[in-house]
Amino acid sequence: VKLQPQRVNNFPPGPPALPILGNLLQLSLSNPLKDFERMKNHYGDVYSIFIGHRPAVILNGLKAIKEAIITKGSDYAGRPQDLFVNAIFQGKGVILADYGTNWKEHRRFALITLRNFGMGKKSMEDRIHEEIQYILKTLENSIGTTISPQTLFHNATSNIISQVLFNTRFEYNDDIITVIIRCITEITKYANGAWATLYDYLPMIQNLPLPFREAFKSHKMCVCVGVSMVTEHMRNRIPGEPKDLLDCYLDELEQRGADSSFSHERLIGFAIDLYGAGTDTTSNTLLTGFLYLMCYPDIQERCQQEIDTMLDGKRCASFEDRHNMPYVQAMIHEVQRIANIVPLSIFHSTRKDTELMGYSIPRGTMIIENLTSVLNEEGEWKFPHDFNPENFLNEQGEFVKPEAFMPFSAGPRMCLGEGLARMELFLIMVTLLRKYKFIWPEDAGKPDLTLVYGITMTTQPYRMRVQVRAIQ
Ligand code: HEM
Repeated sequence: VKLQPQRVNNFPPGPPALPILGNLLQLSLSNPLKDFERMKNHYGDVYSIFIGHRPAVILNGLKAIKEAIITKGSDYAGRPQDLFVNAIFQGKGVILADYGTNWKEHRRFALITLRNFGMGKKSMEDRIHEEIQYILKTLENSIGTTISPQTLFHNATSNIISQVLFNTRFEYNDDIITVIIRCITEITKYANGAWATLYDYLPMIQNLPLPFREAFKSHKMCVCVGVSMVTEHMRNRIPGEPKDLLDCYLDELEQRGADSSFSHERLIGFAIDLYGAGTDTTSNTLLTGFLYLMCYPDIQERCQQEIDTMLDGKRCASFEDRHNMPYVQAMIHEVQRIANIVPLSIFHSTRKDTELMGYSIPRGTMIIENLTSVLNEEGEWKFPHDFNPENFLNEQGEFVKPEAFMPFSAGPRMCLGEGLARMELFLIMVTLLRKYKFIWPEDAGKPDLTLVYGITMTTQPYRMRVQVRAIQ
């Protein structure tokens, strides 16, 4: 039995830890957010816990999070390398990659490519609008009955990222996409759950045939799909005329030669990362959005009025239109604030011995940014605990974005898909609200707004009724 973990040398305070288990018994594995809040109220904005023997520092509130990931961003830009998720993804992508050349070059490449440079004639907006037509068709078919939007939004956001990566979309009942989504759901389920924690802290179980092996199998399946996509692109591409991100990568690989961090193997990990990061996050935000719009019909109507006025005579919305739609912008940001999609961000780690709010944090410490604590922080929002677009409007009714709006995190590790996600959310929500009214079914009981905890938060399953609006 190892000794009880101790906090030394000005390390942030926290609850006393047990031998072996650390503070695990004080955390609900199915939803630790309440426990984290309780500890924050007791120990302050920067405190520490032990997950088994591993110390982790939890950051809460705008001030602490800003100091760490923005002001001292480079000190805090590492990722832990020895967790269950690392074992699954084997360090091949960008999300879990530690600070270094591989991460830097891939991140930079993704940012530039996603900004629409060099992906052929089809713009990002075109790719999104194309998919929206399929969403509209599916909603239209649901008229007269009710529809559960979960699979629809999932498939749609998955298709948008597929368009960007592979220049391909899949029919909503396509076998490949059903398998990929099942695999990602499976990986997320294990990465979120108690098995991941046991795997991290009981090394002796790591090679046993326990249920978490399913996550490894699912990852292998995603790699197989990735390999076939890359092979097909290598066969059909026209060098210098990329149609999608995979083609851009293959061009880049050719130019850089063998001694860069770019490789065919890395490309597969990279594509899986972008695909995984881009699907659940955006679709769960949409799910939360439409749930709240049904529960707050006045807000839905006010958005529709603004959309009707601003798009009058236009065939479809463009992302530029957001500047003329302060209320819709405020509503979408408010949905993101309430949806709290990645509540604990993705774990960081310190790259060197550093300090935070007067505490000493050694190199290699796991850092958990509690984004939840900023998105509903008292003092930072007019209505921290309500759903109210006024949180993003000033007295003149203009859109303003408070500093505490951090659903994408901030600093060097900030979400690199922010631009794409915001474009998707705007174009999808505006187009759907323009055409349809969304109504909570009368026989569905009272809506339950409690979100289900996970690496990405989601809503309780629900159904909606869709009604065509009179042509405006
Ligand atoms: C990282 C949120 C959509 C790709 C992250 C992080 C958050 C986040 C909180 C962690 C940042 C950190 O570690 O400090 C969101 C939300 C989204 C969204 C709320 C949608 C509403 C997307 C999309 C893509 C994407 C569409 C793909 C194009 C990534 C990648 C990273 C990341 C690759 C890792 C960045 C790095 O480690 O350098 N995202 N994300 N995300 N996101 Fe997103």
